[in-house]
Amino acid sequence: MTEIKGLILSGGSGTRLRPITHTYAKQLVPVANKPVLFYGIEALVQAGVEEIGIIIAPQTGDEVRETVGNGSDFGARITYIEQDRPAGLAHAVLTAEEFLDGSSFVMYLGDNLLRDGVPGLVQRFRDESPDAMILLTQVDDPSAFGVAELDEGRVVRLVEKPENPPSDMALVGVYLFSPAIFEAARQLAPSARGELEITEAIQTLIDDGHDVRSEVVSGWWKDTGQLVDMLEANRLVLDDIGSRLDGTIEDSRVEGRVIVEEGAVLKNSVVRGPAVIGAGAVIESAYIGPYTSIGDGVRVVNSEIEHSILLSGSSVENLGARIEASLLGREVRVTRSDSLPKTMRLLVGDRAEIEIV
Ligand code: TTP
Repeated sequence: MTEIKGLILSGGSGTRLRPITHTYAKQLVPVANKPVLFYGIEALVQAGVEEIGIIIAPQTGDEVRETVGNGSDFGARITYIEQDRPAGLAHAVLTAEEFLDGSSFVMYLGDNLLRDGVPGLVQRFRDESPDAMILLTQVDDPSAFGVAELDEGRVVRLVEKPENPPSDMALVGVYLFSPAIFEAARQLAPSARGELEITEAIQTLIDDGHDVRSEVVSGWWKDTGQLVDMLEANRLVLDDIGSRLDGTIEDSRVEGRVIVEEGAVLKNSVVRGPAVIGAGAVIESAYIGPYTSIGDGVRVVNSEIEHSILLSGSSVENLGARIEASLLGREVRVTRSDSLPKTMRLLVGDRAEIEIV
């Protein structure tokens, strides 16, 4: 069987998820308390792809390395490849040329989530050996995506964010390539946004008469590049969880599917699933509503939270209003004070977003 390597892209600048991405790779933001990136690694391993290169950015690469390790936890062998600047997906491919070493490979965008993974796609690529294969999904607003024009399953044209979309089939962040992609990528010039575009490289393959095929995604797909999508991904993943109560539950009500990790304490509270409460979290006189992921060591006291993600070490105490549709970074503190005068005191980093009720 020909070896297919994996290439996961975990670089990029993540501007749409600032300020979280000022200090943190967006691919490490947890969905149902597991970094988005882990789902991608697991999907590749499940498809029989164990030799994986991960593209990292200079600013956030060390943390990705530390969090993921050498791959043994996943049954994979992982090599880290630093991309000196976020110069585009095709630039990332060229950066990984030495690692890929003439193999065919599956490229997976590290902030993408696919419910059913990629085993069918990888198997079809192994069986049919085309020059490239792309994954597509039907979308309501094709002009916001890269869009494929098809002729009986064969891809005849790709257009990036078209004003007049030729179809409603958008590219999902998973691609399979034979080494023919390198020559196509080497011919590219930077696009209007200054990147080497993978859609242009695939178009070059098509123009040169290469065989580019497509497959339609089964199950849901989510790109978590911005807040609403991250929360939506959290909702979709939580919709599939089971129940497990390993923490301490005192005078509290747990309704629906809820995971409470070891060392977490629920006191005088209501948790309505689906939700996950991380190890060592303290939930006291609080309400945790559906579609909420509470990270390790988080404190929620005298407060209500729903449809949100709280990263590890954060605390929310004595709020008069419910927090909803929110993402709190690591070690964020949100409190209410009863002292007068009744003012707001804020210490907020660059590009934070706060909506007061
Ligand atoms: P994008 O989300 O399209 O780009 P970005 O990360 O720069 O984000 P933003 O648009 O908010 O600034 O990238 C898709 C995936 O590919 C994502 O996981 C980051 C990764 N990536 C790289 O590894 N190298 C790159 O040069 C680019 C552009 C993206």
